[in-house]
Amino acid sequence: QKDGYDWFMRKEIFEQPEAVANTLLGRFTEKGDLTLDEVRIPPEDLRRVNKIVIVACGTSFYAGLVAKYAIEHWTRVPCEVEIASEFRYRDPIIDPMTLVVTISQSGETADTLMAIRHAREQHAKVIAICNTNGATIPRESDAVIYTHAGPEIGVASTKGFLTQVMACYLLGLYLAQVRGMKYGDEIRAMMGELERMPGLIQQVLDDSQPVLDLAAQLKNRRSVLFLGRHVGYPVALEGALKLKELAYIHAEGFAAGELKHGPIALIEPGLPVFVVVPPRGRDQLHEKVVSNIQEIRARGAKTIVLAEEGDDVAERYADSFISLPPVSTLFQPLVATVALQLFACELATQMGHDVDQPRNLAKSVTVE
Ligand code: M6R
Repeated sequence: QKDGYDWFMRKEIFEQPEAVANTLLGRFTEKGDLTLDEVRIPPEDLRRVNKIVIVACGTSFYAGLVAKYAIEHWTRVPCEVEIASEFRYRDPIIDPMTLVVTISQSGETADTLMAIRHAREQHAKVIAICNTNGATIPRESDAVIYTHAGPEIGVASTKGFLTQVMACYLLGLYLAQVRGMKYGDEIRAMMGELERMPGLIQQVLDDSQPVLDLAAQLKNRRSVLFLGRHVGYPVALEGALKLKELAYIHAEGFAAGELKHGPIALIEPGLPVFVVVPPRGRDQLHEKVVSNIQEIRARGAKTIVLAEEGDDVAERYADSFISLPPVSTLFQPLVATVALQLFACELATQMGHDVDQPRNLAKSVTVE
């Protein structure tokens, strides 16, 4: 049931505060430790891991890109992220000390399934992050972390993505705890911030009118670009994918630092460019992204800036400003992505497209 919404996708976007809260449920013991009961891989094995490889497709791959920043930062274990359809065919270097993490909303994606079968043949341990109880991927993995988002009907993944990102944070913190890289107070502080996320996601939803107005303005554009750095880079990729899938508009996401290595040639007067700005706490990156905004604005682009509320430095160069609640840099994807999902959903609606069943796409891609 759509519960009064025009699309399942819009309903699912609005379910995200609850979905993310459900992913967090019961992960904290009374002693204040983070617990992931489902990860039935002995702690000794997790301590021996010397490389983490995340494999996934589409939006789930972007969740993996976010995870890499968090996992490497917290655990200091090298973490690679790979598109599942590429992984198996390049003879990847994996062995029993590799932890393979697979991310799949449906748990039935053929490319991802083939990748984990290959990993297990090399005796790597596989943890699945999945939203579908009893699906093939979790059944064929050593352990599974369920995201508990509830069924996702819209073909474009929304709450699937946010809950995957949350599950990845939990896994990263858990590995850091098991490996002695993070202790009680630090874990508790981060868990405290994660527990505030559902409320902050709700805030983005409550304040979404500017995003909807923007969609009405931009509905007939041929091309839209998205820029971000650090975890803002996968957010940019996800924002672009949502727009391609739903509005059939050419959309590209770039790492903002790559701009001058090529993509800046695409900038022309009036081109809409979304820029995800890191929170001001990370001064260096913030400054660099703001200077990217200046560069593209000087060439006539229409800058749509997603930045922390009150970030008047970024706002100065914004043709449109989308304000985000203040969060740590690593957790910003949980709020920034929501605004981009709403934008794509609204733009596609205004263009008269079927948002829940975009052309040529299937919810679960069960063929290679
Ligand atoms: O079910 P999965 O998470 O394995 O699906 C992976 C991709 O097919 C999926 O994320 C796809 O990119 C969505 N249509 C994105 O909105």
